[in-house]
Amino acid sequence: PIESNRYLINGELLSWKGKMAKVYSSISSTDSYQPTYLGSVPELEEQQANDSLEAALEAYDQGKGKWPTMRVKERIACMQKFVKLMEAKRELTVKLIMWEIGKNLPDAEKEFDRTVQYIYDTIEDYKNLDRDAAKFEKNEGVVAHIRRGPLGVVLCLGPYNYPLNETFALLIPALIMGNTAVFKPAKFGVLLITPLLEAFQESFPKGVVNIVFGRGRVLASPMMKTGKVDVLALIGNSKSANALIDQHPKSNRLRLILGLEAKNPAIILPHADLDLAVKECIAGSLSFNGQRCTALKIIYVHEAIRTAFLEKFTAAVDALKFGNPWDEGAFLTPLPEPNKPQYIQELIDDALAKGGKIINKKGGRLMDNYIWPPVLYPVTKDMRIYEEEQFGPAIPIRSFTDINTPLNDMADSNYGQQVSLFGKDIKELSPLIDALANLVCRVNLNSSCQRGPDVYPFTGRKDSAKATLSVHDALRSFSIRTFVALKDN
Ligand code: G3H
Repeated sequence: PIESNRYLINGELLSWKGKMAKVYSSISSTDSYQPTYLGSVPELEEQQANDSLEAALEAYDQGKGKWPTMRVKERIACMQKFVKLMEAKRELTVKLIMWEIGKNLPDAEKEFDRTVQYIYDTIEDYKNLDRDAAKFEKNEGVVAHIRRGPLGVVLCLGPYNYPLNETFALLIPALIMGNTAVFKPAKFGVLLITPLLEAFQESFPKGVVNIVFGRGRVLASPMMKTGKVDVLALIGNSKSANALIDQHPKSNRLRLILGLEAKNPAIILPHADLDLAVKECIAGSLSFNGQRCTALKIIYVHEAIRTAFLEKFTAAVDALKFGNPWDEGAFLTPLPEPNKPQYIQELIDDALAKGGKIINKKGGRLMDNYIWPPVLYPVTKDMRIYEEEQFGPAIPIRSFTDINTPLNDMADSNYGQQVSLFGKDIKELSPLIDALANLVCRVNLNSSCQRGPDVYPFTGRKDSAKATLSVHDALRSFSIRTFVALKDN
C-alpha cells in the first residue's frame, strides 16, 4: 500500500498528522471477493484549503509575481523539468491507474503516454503562441503590441475517469500561461498523484502549484467562498460545478473552464457498413465501460436495418472479455465506483417497467464489482436511461424511420458534445452533417466519438462544456489578450 501523508503548499511538502482517507480498489486480490486496500492520503481541512489558496494568491501577487511575469523561456524550462521527472514515474503510475480506477493496461498506458505528449505539445504550441503574441500591429495610427496574459488563480478539479490526463489537460496549460493554481485530485485516482508531488515541488517556484487532498465540500467550497478564485477549471458534473459557482460571491467575475456531461448519440443510416458500425459502437459505448464523457450513450438505428444491426451488436457485446485490467484482452473491467452496478440496475428496472427489454443474453448479470452491459430496446423518452448520463456499461437503443427523430431529440437535449453518423455517401449526407454540426461540436463520420487527437478542439454546446480545451485551445482558454498601444501623434 501507498501510505502518503504529504501535500504541497507554497513549495513545501508538508506532513499531515490528522485524519487519513483510505483508498480501496474494487478489484479483489483474493478469490472470494473483497475490495483491496491500496493506501491512504490526507483528509485535509479548511485551514489547509485556505493556506493553499493564500500561497497561490501570493505567488500570483495580482499579476506582479515572479511566475506571471517570468520570461517565456524560463517557464518552459520549468515545464520541461517537470515532464522529465514525470516520465520516470511511468511504471508506477500505470499500475495505479489500473488498480485505482480499473482501466485496462493498454488504456492505462495510453493515458500516461498521451499526457506526456500533451505536455510536450503544449510546450511547442506555447512557443508558437508566444511568437504570435509578440507581433506589432498598426491600425489607424495606433501601434499595438499584442500579448497574451494569465487570468489569475485557478482552482483545478479533475475527474476520476482520466485522473492524470484530464487533470493535466487543465493544469498544464493553466500553469504555462502564467496562472497559479490549487489542484485537488478526484476521489478515485488520487494515489497516483502522490508520486508526482516531488516533481511538482522541484520544477515550479513556490506557491505556483499547490496540491491538496480531501473532500471537495471541505476544501473547494471555502476557497470559492473567499471570492478570490479567478478561474474554476473543472472536468466533472454540472451539479458539482454549479454548487461551487454559487458559493463564489462574485460569480459573474469567475471565469469558467468546464468539461461536463454529454449524451452523445450514434445514428445509423440504412446504407451504413454494419460491421464497421458495430465495431465503432462497441468501442464508443463500452471502452472503459462507458465511463467517458465522450462515450456513445444512446444509439439510433434506422428501422430498415434494425434487426440486422441489433443481432450483430448484441452478439458483439456478449463476446467481449471481462477481466482484471492487466488480463490479456480484457475489455470490460471492474467499476471503481462501488454503487455503479446498483445504479445501472436501477436504470434497467425503470426501463423494463416502462416497456423496454434487455436484448442481449448476458445483459444485466450482476457480479461483485460489475454489471454486464445491458442493451436496452426500445427506449422511450420517459425512461431514466434516455434522460440520464449513465456514465457506465448500459446501451439504450432507439429506432427511427424519419431522421428528424434523432435530430429533434438532440435539439431538445441538454447536451451538445458530439455525434457519430454511420452512412455511405458522405457527399449526399452533407446537409445532414451541417445540421448535426449545429447541434454538437464534433460530427464523427463512420467512427465513434472521442476527444483525441488532442490538438483538435474539445468542447460542447449547452450544458456539456464552457470553454474549449485541446493543446491549442486550452492555452487560449487560460489566458486573455491584452495590448500596449502607442499612438502615432
Ligand atoms: O471523459 C471524457 C474524456 O474527455 C473522454 O476522452 O474520448 O479520449 O476517452 P476520450
